[in-house]
Amino acid sequence: MTTVLSMQGITKRFGTGHTEITALKGIDFEVKAGEFISIIGPSGSGKSTFLTIAGGLQNPTTGTIMIGQHSFTDLTGKQRAKARFEEIGFILQSSNLVPFLTVQEQFVFVDTLNKSHEENKAADLLRSLDIWALKDKFPKELSGGERQRVAIARALFNDPAIILADEPTASLDSDHAFEVVQLLAKEAHEKQKAIIMVTHDPRMTQWSDRIYRMKDGLLQIEA
Ligand SMILES: Nc1ncnc2c1ncn2[C@@H]1O[C@H](COP(=O)(O)OP(=O)(O)OP(=O)(O)O)[C@@H](O)[C@H]1O
Ligand SMILES: [Mg+2]
Repeated sequence: MTTVLSMQGITKRFGTGHTEITALKGIDFEVKAGEFISIIGPSGSGKSTFLTIAGGLQNPTTGTIMIGQHSFTDLTGKQRAKARFEEIGFILQSSNLVPFLTVQEQFVFVDTLNKSHEENKAADLLRSLDIWALKDKFPKELSGGERQRVAIARALFNDPAIILADEPTASLDSDHAFEVVQLLAKEAHEKQKAIIMVTHDPRMTQWSDRIYRMKDGLLQIEA
């Protein structure tokens, strides 16, 4: 299987002098097409920092990131934004919906950028996540869990090779949480996506191919 994302010697420092924090202390990591990986670990251990660096939302202090055959770290800001849009789907801890668009319009927005028209695909995703009935509502009219599921549908809609999900089940009830994780596992295994999911909930890791634990800025294999 092809390696879609690899990271070598990643460190991340925030601040300087006595306020300096080393959030990541030297991480080597890779994920292949078709793999579903979970990352667990305590609050403040560096999970979100790792995930946002993996997706190019922030730069590491040292180390290199390869997306496919290309070094992400060497790209210009503009090239990186393009690669991010085309290759990576983010499901962030704070759901990143556009406030002035309805649920359905969130997809039209992506679709316009994409210049393709796949209305049925959006509908199928909304149905599979049990939110089709909400398609004309605005984000502020949704519960936290409903917003989260719209954000998940939108991340999958673009058909990215890599999906990075930060606590995608945090605001969901158990039934929906299990459905979401199973959907992610299915995307990875049936559509050959590389998926990295950060979670606090050990019940959510059972469909993963590998589990890592983040501990004080270092990633250790757990299972
Ligand atoms: N922009 C920043 N500036 C300064 N420190 C930061 C910044 N982002 C993260 N940190 C620090 O880096 C460390 C790791 O943070 P991170 O958000 O990656 O943790 P986490 O494992 O995702 O925690 P949680 O489970 O609570 O989401 C923490 O000590 C945090 O305070
Ligand atoms: Mg976090």
